[in-house]
Amino acid sequence: MEHDEGISNPSNNRPFEDVLNEYASRRQLLRGGLTLAAGSFLAGPLSATAAVPAPGRKIGSRLIDFQPVTLAEGNGPVPAISPDYDYQVLIPWGTSLTNNVTDYSGDPLVRPTAEEQAQQVGIGHDGMWFFPFRRSSNRGLLAINHEYGTNGTVLGKADPETLADVMTSQHAHGISVLEIRKTGRGWELVKDSMYNRRVHGRTPVEFSGPVAGSELIGPEAGAMGTLNNCANGYTPWGTYLTCEENFNGYFGTSDSSWTPSDEQARYGLSAGGFGYSWHVFDERFDLASDSHPNEENRFGWIVEVDPFNPEAMPLKRTAMGRFKHEGVALVEGRGGRVVGYMGDDERFDYIYKFVSAGNWRFMRAQGVSPLDNGTLYAAKFNDDGTGEWLELSLRNPAIAARFSSEAEMLTYTRIAADLAGATPMDRPEWTSVGADGTVYCTLTNNSRREEADAANPQAPNPDGHIIRWRDSNRHIGRSFTWEIFLLSSDTHGTERSVASPDGIWVDPDNRVFIQTDGAQKDGLNDQLLIANGNQSGDDIEISRLFTGVTGCEVTGIAVTPNRRTLFVNLQHPGNGDPSVTNFPAAQGSGTIPRDCTVVITRKDGGVVGS
Ligand code: FEO
Ligand code: CA
Ligand code: CA
Repeated sequence: MEHDEGISNPSNNRPFEDVLNEYASRRQLLRGGLTLAAGSFLAGPLSATAAVPAPGRKIGSRLIDFQPVTLAEGNGPVPAISPDYDYQVLIPWGTSLTNNVTDYSGDPLVRPTAEEQAQQVGIGHDGMWFFPFRRSSNRGLLAINHEYGTNGTVLGKADPETLADVMTSQHAHGISVLEIRKTGRGWELVKDSMYNRRVHGRTPVEFSGPVAGSELIGPEAGAMGTLNNCANGYTPWGTYLTCEENFNGYFGTSDSSWTPSDEQARYGLSAGGFGYSWHVFDERFDLASDSHPNEENRFGWIVEVDPFNPEAMPLKRTAMGRFKHEGVALVEGRGGRVVGYMGDDERFDYIYKFVSAGNWRFMRAQGVSPLDNGTLYAAKFNDDGTGEWLELSLRNPAIAARFSSEAEMLTYTRIAADLAGATPMDRPEWTSVGADGTVYCTLTNNSRREEADAANPQAPNPDGHIIRWRDSNRHIGRSFTWEIFLLSSDTHGTERSVASPDGIWVDPDNRVFIQTDGAQKDGLNDQLLIANGNQSGDDIEISRLFTGVTGCEVTGIAVTPNRRTLFVNLQHPGNGDPSVTNFPAAQGSGTIPRDCTVVITRKDGGVVGS
């Protein structure tokens, strides 16, 4: 979901002294910085990165070899795909997980009931991952986020009128775990699979890590729900991580005497919220109610779900901090530590890194989750192509002066990062780590930036960019080198046109899958493009594989182990308006357009993206 309204960072973190005011000098620095950073990048200047294979080994090969969707084709009420590829639709919103409940058809005159929606695929398809059965590329579990759905689409009216309406909306959020299999007719949902499961806004959850047991998250008995599940991650031990982003929007109050605390304001909580009005019928979401103290602090976490154990409780992993979590890219760093790179998607918010306290295998063998014990850092990007990871802990005197416990600091992670002096970024969205250790992060846009800096070189920045870096000491060090991978504005007016990058995934061959969310240029719908991660500079090869339908975001990336099948999502097609598109139903059918997964394969059976 494009959510570009707010700024809740009042800090004055503007660490770059050389603010560049003129376009020409900005560009010059960018180019210079790029060369400098790329040079050090490729050479692996920080001792430990020298061990990582340098990118570039595939230069000259046909890494991307398909006929792209043209500008002229990428704009309509149905998707467009490269002529070298096919797609099929899977699991639209309202698809029942069982044979006991009917599928919702998209009929504009009816909507799912709360009871039905709890057993149907949710809305707002977003981040996801495919968990194969025994390395199979034909059968496995798809864990998929349901980020958001407006009252207008989910309920067919602007406001809920009963608690049952609110429950329908809450049940439409969260995640689904679905068994899917490939048949002669394509991919299908296995209804009634023992693994099929919904986790939604009312599912019992537990807290784990330093904040568990703290009064800051209220009494834990009866804690419920995960909301605004945006992007995702997955662990080396086979679990799914779902990331809670714009949770603030579900809270509100009708009490005109309520005003936000500083902490609530830093997380964007407001009396009106995003207009869901859940608080009118569900006190849990009423900011002025004393019946559920600190309920809002129970959201904004990364939640671990074991897709293979439908009985396992979702666990909110508090050591990874509380902010508007876009997603998390997990990688194994030096010494077997797990390292997670994370974006906080708000204007002028930060990029974070979590490093587990020890070797993940040893920790798990001792019954300790590597995601419960570790250190959180926020990124500071220097203008010379270097950067620092700023530790967020009470060892920092500024943080210790503000917070009395690690639990408090983690509950208000954003404030700790303000105090540490992290670099305010242009809305950090997805992160992905390539096979060579390069980390990518999309910075989707920032219409309110007034002062450029080297890492956010355009002011304002309506179309976004992609930054990439190489960490020191195999991901666990305190320093890194970085460069701008792509400035969206460089591509406009060409067949490479891209804007507002959001989803990103780097495949093992260094193909960079880029998905977009928001106003594209050159008449395009939102889209999926493949870029060549072996390249640097202005002329990186970018090829358009797929465009969505009018009004939809293209998001979510999962692949089978053999990389012959790619899953992506269309979120909010037509923004729910059947006069714009009826996808995935036939055009002219009059049905409400529905969020769905699209399964993409190469016609020749090759690796997707190639
Ligand atoms: Fe859920 Fe920042 O996109
Ligand atoms: Ca977005
Ligand atoms: Ca997103």
